[in-house]
Amino acid sequence: MCGIVGYTGTQQAAPVLLDGLARLEYRGYDSAGLAVRNGSDLAEVVKSTGKLRGLIEKTDGGRSLAGTCGIGHTRWATHGEPSQTNAHPHVSGNCSGSGSGLVESEVTGVHNGIIENYLELKEKLSRHGYQFYSDTDTEVVVKLIDYYYKKYKIGPVDAINRTLVRIRGTYALALMFRDYPGEIYAARKDAPMIIGIDGSESYLASDVPAILNYTRTVYYIGNLQIAQLRPGEVHFFDLNGDEIQLESTQITWDAKSAEKNGFEHFMIKEIYEQPAAVRDTLTSLVTEGRITLEAAGLSDEVLRGISSVRIAACGSAWHVGMAAQYILEDLAEIPVRVELASEYRYRKVLHVDGELLVVISQSGETADSLAALRKAKDLGIRTLAIVNVVGSTIAREADHVLYTHAGPEIAVATTKAFSAQLAAIYCFAVQAAYVRGLIDSDQYDGYLRELASIPDKIERILEEKERIQWFAAKYANARDIFFIGRGLDYAISLEGSLKLKEISYVHSEAYAAGELKHGTISLIEDNLLVIGVLTQKDLFEKTISNMAECKARGAFLMALTSYGNYSVEDSANFTVYVPKTDPHFMASLAVVPLQLFGYYSGVARGLDVDKPRNLAKSVTVE
Ligand code: G6P
Repeated sequence: MCGIVGYTGTQQAAPVLLDGLARLEYRGYDSAGLAVRNGSDLAEVVKSTGKLRGLIEKTDGGRSLAGTCGIGHTRWATHGEPSQTNAHPHVSGNCSGSGSGLVESEVTGVHNGIIENYLELKEKLSRHGYQFYSDTDTEVVVKLIDYYYKKYKIGPVDAINRTLVRIRGTYALALMFRDYPGEIYAARKDAPMIIGIDGSESYLASDVPAILNYTRTVYYIGNLQIAQLRPGEVHFFDLNGDEIQLESTQITWDAKSAEKNGFEHFMIKEIYEQPAAVRDTLTSLVTEGRITLEAAGLSDEVLRGISSVRIAACGSAWHVGMAAQYILEDLAEIPVRVELASEYRYRKVLHVDGELLVVISQSGETADSLAALRKAKDLGIRTLAIVNVVGSTIAREADHVLYTHAGPEIAVATTKAFSAQLAAIYCFAVQAAYVRGLIDSDQYDGYLRELASIPDKIERILEEKERIQWFAAKYANARDIFFIGRGLDYAISLEGSLKLKEISYVHSEAYAAGELKHGTISLIEDNLLVIGVLTQKDLFEKTISNMAECKARGAFLMALTSYGNYSVEDSANFTVYVPKTDPHFMASLAVVPLQLFGYYSGVARGLDVDKPRNLAKSVTVE
């Protein structure tokens, strides 16, 4: 969703801020803005709607904004329409217009998240003579800080602290105070924010890729803590205003991994990075032929003590949960229930002793997934997070963490993080099955061999991408496309369907094949494309029958199965084959052609596949 960058140092701030914002573009936004201050002068604010290009042109690539300290923002509208007036930064001064230019203002700020009680605070501030030019909750926060700052004649840290205890919601804030040139203040609650230092330069960002080119030394600021940035220096304070010490961390991600490196889009680059993402995740969890989950605190004893698993996640991560359900129940014989995190968080949850709640999340910041985690923790349920972003809130709050090693994922539609999450689930399931006495060591070694072969098999699928590219172009203008499958193939269908609609805007649905007859079959018309996923031997004939029922009503059939199942061609009009592996791991292979299908459908339609409309990479509001 929104992106924040900040910089104070010896260079001109605006080009650094614009570069950082460009690296956060993938998060989704509808307007952007900068505030830069030169020495003790007022901050100059420039905002623009639409793509960042507008802001770059307006500021001549940042050259027209002089100053070595500034903050920048890309806004994904929540309160108030996407407009120049509602774009950030916002100022505390009473001004008309859009709050742009050199505005007389004590406090200037940007914000990610939502302030739930902003209307009540707005009324209070109005009674004290504050006027509002925008519809945003951000302007209210900036003015509330200004109010405490002036009323109590206190410093920025105390003014921010007084504000933090008055506002409700989730937020990350970056602020500049007129009386404190060269300084930026930051605070957060349940929204990501990191601080980076390099020599005499200090950076602030809502996401790692924004500052990866400048520094690898970062601080993760905690909830309700405040950071004070000066050139090359950062201090942290708690809610009492007392200075606290935080440890810095080194980011291991390679700056190049957040670049396109010659690929047309991040999405296709990330599809190609899947063998590495799976390999690196497996390598992190397998040592000398043994799956090692002890580092995450998942000892054999803990694994044996799990009575049931509940998985809470959103989007594609929820689809990994759907696949995990079949794998864990079959291999480890642990009862599994999969829930959308947004549902789990708001209902009465009944749980049993020994239950494990697993939250799966690429970003580790998704608001609903975080809320599900916290709810489980409040109920005393043991929690495990499968997360890609090191130091993210979910990773820090869960009892156990298994990190996926997909590196930075930039395209909004996840691909390599999805594959890495599956790899982590496989390790968890195989190890649980082994320590619970359900598989012997020969079977265990066999599963490990199969796992190790997955990256090469994904590479082989990628070598045949042209055929899918051709087929996707043929169907790029379809009105509806259906995906069907049973068991694990249903989970794969869900992900294939989501990839297609996210990227190409073609309406699509995934159905458990046996459920078609209960309604959806009425939608089958001449030439409508139905994609049948058939990777599970025991269910093959059943799904073929459901596909045949669609064909009898005019559908065009695409089948996705593994080499050897050539009888499928008796029914299907077009077949895509993937290599064979153990049936539990087939999702890792079958998903790849479907990702390519979604990607090439979007490309054929001329769409911005890395940044599909209305979507955000990391959904930090509910
Ligand atoms: C957004 C992304 C999806 C992702 C979902 C969950 O909707 O577009 O690709 O699956 O959020 O994100 P998470 O970071 O929790 O995995």
